[in-house]
Amino acid sequence: MTFEEIKIKFGIIGKSKEIKDLVDITAQVAASDISVLIYGESGVGKEVFARTIHGMSNRADKQLVSVNCGAIPEGILESELFGHKKGSFTGALENRKGYFEIADGGTLFLDEIAEMPLTTQVKLLRAIETKEFMRLGAETVTKVDVRIIAATNKDLQREVEAKHFREDLYFRLKAVTLSIPPLRKRKMDIEELVKHFIDNYSSDNKIAPPQISNEAMDLLVSYDWPGNVRELKNTVETAVALNKKGSLNLDSFLPLLRPREEEKSIRNLPVYLKKSPEEADRELLYRALFEIKKDIMELKDLIYNQRIEVESQNNNSQPADILPLDQIEKEAIRNTLEITKGNKRNAARMLNISERTLYRKIREYDL
Ligand SMILES: Nc1ncnc2c1ncn2[C@@H]1O[C@H](COP(=O)(O)OP(=O)(O)O)[C@@H](O)[C@H]1O
Ligand SMILES: [Mg+2]
Repeated sequence: MTFEEIKIKFGIIGKSKEIKDLVDITAQVAASDISVLIYGESGVGKEVFARTIHGMSNRADKQLVSVNCGAIPEGILESELFGHKKGSFTGALENRKGYFEIADGGTLFLDEIAEMPLTTQVKLLRAIETKEFMRLGAETVTKVDVRIIAATNKDLQREVEAKHFREDLYFRLKAVTLSIPPLRKRKMDIEELVKHFIDNYSSDNKIAPPQISNEAMDLLVSYDWPGNVRELKNTVETAVALNKKGSLNLDSFLPLLRPREEEKSIRNLPVYLKKSPEEADRELLYRALFEIKKDIMELKDLIYNQRIEVESQNNNSQPADILPLDQIEKEAIRNTLEITKGNKRNAARMLNISERTLYRKIREYDL
């Protein structure tokens, strides 16, 4: 396939040298089963390239399964990846296939891989190396044939040095690395992207694609796009949706772009830009999962603190129903002597001690 054919088939837009090189490498590595690690800031197109690698491989007719390792709470991630047997933990009501099995014959895309907990990293490496794993709670191994593509916006080498990421897994994943530069470093791609997003959004919504003025295009090219292509797409779609005049100009975009300083504080607020229903759904789901994760962490804290409290109480004062050993012994001897009506030989036999010991203890305890 030529560069143009690949771009069309997989919806890759851009004519910069960076995009050309990325498409070249993608075409070269697609056919093999080699692991690919994709670097890049959020919104640069990591998933677009993961799809292209999968789509150009011999695995294209099987599934590409995307997992966002950062969005799935720690406790759930392993069962999501490897599946579980019914009853293996509270809530495991059915046998369940994990993503590894669903992706069998296809590709597993592990997004935000740096967020994967170390314990899961161990299991992931083992599964990649042996091509087999066990479902949670299962006794038999499951064999799979899966190609791994991982992505991150963090410097994994640094994560390895900080001991947040296993070096062996890192080496395993980075057989080939693709680094996608931020949009501000390849401004040459912006114009083509803007036109593509205007056309796509218009045809999806059955409206005539509006014209865009030169000044407006210059503004979009000069803007920094901290949210990269994702932000550009959202901005263009919002402008088209709000447009009433039939053509897009400076005023269509100025209210949508934010000065650098303001941005930081505003970026944490709910996003006001229009999202596709799919993105909005996903975000809702992620938020729900984050809430659950937070709840679980709070519960853990609560339980931990209660345990500490109980333990410290135990250390300070003794519960009433526990007696020291010598006192128990004294009581036992007194009771036995009562039963034997003072017969020391019988008492000694019942207590399984020698008569001499019994005499000594009677003296000791002053019975
Ligand atoms: N080169 C590109 N051509 C066309 N669309 C792109 C390109 N790069 C990114 N996009 C679009 O931008 C959005 C974000 O891309 P995505 O791959 O999800 O980014 P990332 O995974 O790096 O956060 C998606 O809607 C995607 O289709
Ligand atoms: Mg992504």
